[in-house]
Amino acid sequence: MRLDRFLSETTELTRSLAKKALHRGDVSVDGEVVKNPATQVGEASRVTWNDEPLALVGLRYLLLHKPAGVECTARRTLYPRAIDLVDLPKAERLQTVGRLDVDTTGLVLLTDDGQWSHRVTSPKHRRGKVYRVTLAEPLEGEALARAVEAFAEGVMLDGEEKPTRSAELAMREPTVAELTLYEGKYHQVKRMFAAVGHHVVALHRESIGPLALGDLPEGEWRELTAEEIAAF
Ligand code: URA
Repeated sequence: MRLDRFLSETTELTRSLAKKALHRGDVSVDGEVVKNPATQVGEASRVTWNDEPLALVGLRYLLLHKPAGVECTARRTLYPRAIDLVDLPKAERLQTVGRLDVDTTGLVLLTDDGQWSHRVTSPKHRRGKVYRVTLAEPLEGEALARAVEAFAEGVMLDGEEKPTRSAELAMREPTVAELTLYEGKYHQVKRMFAAVGHHVVALHRESIGPLALGDLPEGEWRELTAEEIAAF
């Protein structure tokens, strides 16, 4: 890759600031000051900027325990973003794999590998996403039986062209449901419960396919293992 691109990938410098740094003689490759931005460098090149060694950031795959009040978005808003919780170089290159609402807690995946992200979210792969759903009112008896059936058959949500894919509903307590979805439409869990007359007061994602939060504390993240990455 060109040296100016290498600099913009590994530092905060834009391509044009990288060219200026090169022009000033701030950059060395394998011990020699290099000023030409078109110089080709590779994995094995030892590049330094103001004597600091630089290394390319590879593809990253992270699992975050999202707290409430954090947004899954790239643009800055009133709330902190999921990527703001990740203290890695070039964290702004990471994207969340799908989204959780700002008030939803739980498992969020982050990556800079767009193809992997697509595989995780594609309904074709039928990866169950398990949500713990706290309802304002108990859901029991006949109403529960109707909701289980409706969710299994698919619910036509306002503004959608197709019904939701078959989903599995079970109650853990009269007001705490476990819902497994195989897709991710906007506010899907809240809209599905609204469709059967129930209001969601808290929502937490526990797992996506084989990946679960385990005992990862809220606000913390960890890297996925090679095996976990390969599972998708
Ligand atoms: N469904 C919702 O309604 N909200 C989420 O954050 C995730 C799924």
